[in-house]
Amino acid sequence: MDFVTLNNGTVIPQLGFGVWQVPDDQAYTAVRTALESGYRHIDTARLYENESGVGRAVKDSGLAREEVFITTKLWNSDQGRDAALKAFDASLERLGTDYVDLYLIHWPMPARDLYVETYKALEEIYADGRAKAIGVSNFTTETLDRLLAETGVVPAINQIELHPYFNQRVLRRHDADHGIATEAWSPLGQGGDLLNEPVLARIAEAHGKTAAQVVLRWHLHLGNVVIPKSVTPARIAQNIDVFDFELTDGEMAEIATLDRPDGRIGLDPDTFN
Ligand code: A2P
Repeated sequence: MDFVTLNNGTVIPQLGFGVWQVPDDQAYTAVRTALESGYRHIDTARLYENESGVGRAVKDSGLAREEVFITTKLWNSDQGRDAALKAFDASLERLGTDYVDLYLIHWPMPARDLYVETYKALEEIYADGRAKAIGVSNFTTETLDRLLAETGVVPAINQIELHPYFNQRVLRRHDADHGIATEAWSPLGQGGDLLNEPVLARIAEAHGKTAAQVVLRWHLHLGNVVIPKSVTPARIAQNIDVFDFELTDGEMAEIATLDRPDGRIGLDPDTFN
């Protein structure tokens, strides 16, 4: 496993396990499998309604709490200082832990104009030591710039939609310029057409790997933190088996050509309110 050191010194396993859209009981099973397969970083959110399954899986794994990096996120309806503090307590309660490794604002919701105040609540949580690092998700260059101008703790991470069809070159550069690590959600393009791209099949064959493994290796080479999701045990194992090969510069450049203007699959943070 490779690790990334965040801007406050916190160390995060570069590859983690995502559980978006996985119901609580299934999340329990999937996280147990992931931990048995060697994952030590789990990414959940209030929205996913599976924090308690994740928390139980970590407990039942027999691993010490400190051995597993847990991220959760503040949902949109909990923005604002008081609501955010309450929401954080409730997430800890469901996770069955007294701290999280990383707490993120899930979406900026710019039209509501609460994200600066909300982030200041995360700064209080960080100061208390109940989140080892804080950050954001789905922030754009504009919403990040305002946050940086009006708050004190530079976000450790910006978690954004990022995969070869939507490679976010500009935002990745912007994050890096401010010492913010970029984390990729839907790193496999949600398992759709992307994984059938001939260029990926060709590169995969050359390395004796699958297209999904090539895409994950591409993320790691770019320096992204990456959180593939799967509920299929063989794929859970496959997705962490990506530390024994390297892509060439030429292969990286070929994968970069898959980027396209309409590559976004998920919501647009500018208009999602
Ligand atoms: P499943 O959970 O049924 O195994 P993303 O992380 O980009 O959102 O992608 C998640 C989707 O990709 C899920 O539908 C998942 O299916 C599928 N997936 C995950 N890993 C692989 C893999 N190694 N090969 C093919 N599909 C995968």
